[in-house]
Parts: sequence; C-alpha cells; structure tokens
Amino acid sequence: MKIDIPHLINIAENASEKSQAKYSDFPVGAAIIAKDGNVFYGCNIESSSYGLTICAERVALVKALSEGTTLFDTIVIFARKAAFCPPCGACRQLLYDYAPDLQIILTDGHDYKTYNIKELLPHAFEESQLDKK
Ligand code: THU
Repeated sequence: MKIDIPHLINIAENASEKSQAKYSDFPVGAAIIAKDGNVFYGCNIESSSYGLTICAERVALVKALSEGTTLFDTIVIFARKAAFCPPCGACRQLLYDYAPDLQIILTDGHDYKTYNIKELLPHAFEESQLDKK
C-alpha cells in the first residue's frame, strides 16, 4: 500500500487543533493509518490529575482498536511546539504491543523523520514474556 505521507501529516496537524492541553499548553496530534488504508486521528487529552493525561498517539490507537481495526502501518506525530516530537515510553510500549512493525513518522508539519517502533523501543517487553516457563 502506498502511504500518502503529506496527507497524514495534514491529518495529524489538524488533530492537534482539537488538543485538550490546558495544563501543559503542549498540543499534539497523531494520525495512524491501518493496513486497510483507514486512518484514525487523536490528540492529547489532559487531566487536572496530571497522571491521567492521555497522549495523542494512544488516543489515535485506541480509537482504531475500539472500532475493530487491528493491523497498522504507520503513525504520524505532530506537536505544535516541538519540531520532531518523539512518543513517550508508555506510548512506545502500547504501540509495540499492537503494532510491532509500525513505522513512526515525526514531523514539524513539513519535513519528517522516519523510524520503526523496534528502534525506538529495543528489547521491548512483549507478549511472549508472559508465557509461563
Ligand atoms: N504528549 C503527547 O500527546 N504525545 C507525545 O508524544 C509526547 C507528549 C502530550 C502529553 C501531555 O499532554 C503533553 O504532551 C505534555 O507532555
């Protein structure tokens, strides 16, 4: 499948405008494209109890999963106040759990850098470790 990266960047940037980031004032948007071509977007949703905050990447991922989409190709991440905003550790784990071959694109809205989840989360904890020996 050919991925239209500029289109996904646009969706992630638009998603960041919906961000609920009144505590950090750090709006983030993400767009994840599934193997079937469907795109889901998300923004960060913050809480007055800061630890309850949900990152844009996780919102996009859980929206997709909850709609029955389970196979993913690429996620694009855009932060209004940081040029190439990398996903936090918690998001890396969840993305790895559901998309261990995911391509990750960090963008400033124009240029972008491409990574794979395995390089951002080497030696990941994963399902196989739950097997009892
Ligand atoms: N945040 C994201 O949504 N994604 C990232 O990749 C990094 C951080 C959010 C969480 C919080 O709402 C704000 O950015 C500042 O940490």
